[in-house]
Amino acid sequence: MVHGRLAVPLLLLGLAAMSRAEAPQAAAARIDALIAQMTLEEKLGQLTQQWGGLSQDINPGARQQALADLLGMARAGVIGSYLGATGAEHTNTLQRAAVEESRLKIPLLFGNDIIHGYRTVFPIPLAEAATWNPTLIEQACRVAAVEGRAAGTHWTFAPMIDVCRDPRWGRVAETAGEDHFLGAQFAAARVRGFQGDNLASPNAMLACGKHFVAYGAAEGGRDYNTVDVSPQTLHEVHLSTFRAAVDAGVGSIMSAFNEINGIPATAHPHMLQTMLRGQMGFNGLVVSDWGSINEMIAHGYAADSGQAALQAIRAGVDMDMCSGAYRSQLAERVTRGELDVKVVDAAVRRILEAKQRLGLFDNPYIDPALEKRVMLTAEHRALARDVARRSIVLLKNENGLLPLKKQPGKIALIGPLADAAKDMLGTWSLYGKPEEVVTLLAGLRNTLGPNAKLGVSKGSEVQAALAGGIDDAVKLARESDIVILAVGESEDMSGEGHSRANIDIPQPQQELIEAVCATGKPVVLVLFNGRPMALQWAADHVPAMLVAWQGGVEAGNAIADVIFGDFNPSGRLPATFPRVTGQVPIHYNHRNTGRPAREGDRYTSKYIDLPTTPLYPFGFGLSYTSFRYAEATVSPTEATADGKFSLSVVVTNTGTRAGEELVQAYYRDPVASMTRPVRQLCGFERVSLAPGESKRVVIEIPAQRLGFYDWDAKFLVEPGVIQFFLGPHSAEGLQVDAQIK
Ligand code: NOJ
Repeated sequence: MVHGRLAVPLLLLGLAAMSRAEAPQAAAARIDALIAQMTLEEKLGQLTQQWGGLSQDINPGARQQALADLLGMARAGVIGSYLGATGAEHTNTLQRAAVEESRLKIPLLFGNDIIHGYRTVFPIPLAEAATWNPTLIEQACRVAAVEGRAAGTHWTFAPMIDVCRDPRWGRVAETAGEDHFLGAQFAAARVRGFQGDNLASPNAMLACGKHFVAYGAAEGGRDYNTVDVSPQTLHEVHLSTFRAAVDAGVGSIMSAFNEINGIPATAHPHMLQTMLRGQMGFNGLVVSDWGSINEMIAHGYAADSGQAALQAIRAGVDMDMCSGAYRSQLAERVTRGELDVKVVDAAVRRILEAKQRLGLFDNPYIDPALEKRVMLTAEHRALARDVARRSIVLLKNENGLLPLKKQPGKIALIGPLADAAKDMLGTWSLYGKPEEVVTLLAGLRNTLGPNAKLGVSKGSEVQAALAGGIDDAVKLARESDIVILAVGESEDMSGEGHSRANIDIPQPQQELIEAVCATGKPVVLVLFNGRPMALQWAADHVPAMLVAWQGGVEAGNAIADVIFGDFNPSGRLPATFPRVTGQVPIHYNHRNTGRPAREGDRYTSKYIDLPTTPLYPFGFGLSYTSFRYAEATVSPTEATADGKFSLSVVVTNTGTRAGEELVQAYYRDPVASMTRPVRQLCGFERVSLAPGESKRVVIEIPAQRLGFYDWDAKFLVEPGVIQFFLGPHSAEGLQVDAQIK
């Protein structure tokens, strides 16, 4: 055995005295001392994460046995982290076994997927991105951290910062949409929100930027699929959100399931070493994705589990999530001299450092009273409602049908999502409770009071017809003055492993919509969705349409706020909505081609059966008022690569209600040494305006933001003309030109 036992009592004294105020050198020395005491088995244990939850679905005897197994591993010191363990009681029980009964008394690190809230479930991340308000979402992540840490989670596997340009991919729901500039703002905000100022405080969780890298570019939108991406797009788009997260101090990164240009991300030395640790300067902990180390066998990159484990640890993956390969394979590799124990030690150090930063050596336990106190407070609910209503995007509002009056006559609420609590929670809402959700029906009742004339009919199931459903819905519509249609996707139609080849409204609901519209009653369509959807028929036939996403625990109240005008909608699409699935991939920041689409010219880049333009462009969203843009300026008109441009535009509220406009700044580099997108978002700013009021909105753009990566992935800011566009979305805007000298 390499490490003696004699020094243990001394070491424990040291650990007990370790405090977060301690000088970094002292903390490092103590971690070194601890590593020096560890057996190889204990080291590989620290590198191992395993499922630590207790399923409610098994019988009490099996549960008892499962708990005994978890406790046994903790006592033996052969586990560093449990995933899925939650609740003060369960996590404290496990922690006690590690801290009080294992040889070295190293605390366990509890990791969980707290993606958009713990008990207070916020809208899905894609919806949060539709607020275009990173500061607000930082607060939402703070709430998640307060509740999550109080329930025993030290480490959340969030933020998910993949950029996705393919709405078929189920995990688009977890992203901030298709744009990397917007994505980077949210990545940084979420890291700050989860981690707070001090990871050791009882309201902070270690964040995990995932999935490194380019997971959002899965071919065909099929989850886990191959990624083949150009170096330019990799650097400019997919790596940029990770740069932002690292700059914001993210404590951990998760490697992705996918391969990148032939090498699995789980063992990609160029990505993990050269880019992440080298260029970005990341010095935190890297964890694999679930089982992804062994999956390198199926990828065709490793012959067996031993080779896979060796490849992953050498490439820089510190912790093995749930494949078991590190613990079962690496001891032999070290003994055989194939793996330097220093590589193992470096990984162990990063894991112990994370535990140290989280204050676990001092305060390993959770206060059960705190857990009870902080969950789903009125304040947390209020924030969830505010985020949800700010995430709603008004796509269409013919003749000002919305907002409805609070005495609208008889309302028919029709559709399978009218009273669908679970579906409001969306993907990855493991700890939210459907019984705590305000559905749309409940939200309407809350707003209209008990005497509201409100009829309800399901009409169809989400993906199947309901016998007599359409007849019943049509009858109700005919008897009513206005119809609210609650249609779209259930929560399990997006998320991991839930890609769709067709992003239409499911056929049974489409038939319901058409039958209800045929009654001629005014219809407000409320779409529930975990992705951009193809809504051509609805856009052509329904007078008013709201995108409500999966809005979380306060979804119904938030939608009612918008429908009845207590809140003027201000959400904007964070991803393009195509006309049909066949247009996918479609994203606003594409390149121009040598033959850009031209009306009447067949031999240009387009389809013969459809326009090339989307149904609703990136950045689009209406308000109950209207805005006019005028007097766009740029100053200076010339700047050096380290200078900056100040863009400004006068926005006037030309309607009759107060409202908030989101001024978006895009740029185009029309001639460069690599072709550049037709437009690229480079800034945004919101402005609140009373009816008739005008304000000049200023957006600062550092010239560095206008650069790009060349063929050798070198970052350049080239001299030449830059065209700026200031407007309400990616397909409009006033142009002003400037020069980079
Ligand atoms: C697999 C997912 O890809 C990842 O995002 C998640 O954090 C882990 N499973 C753990 O649940």
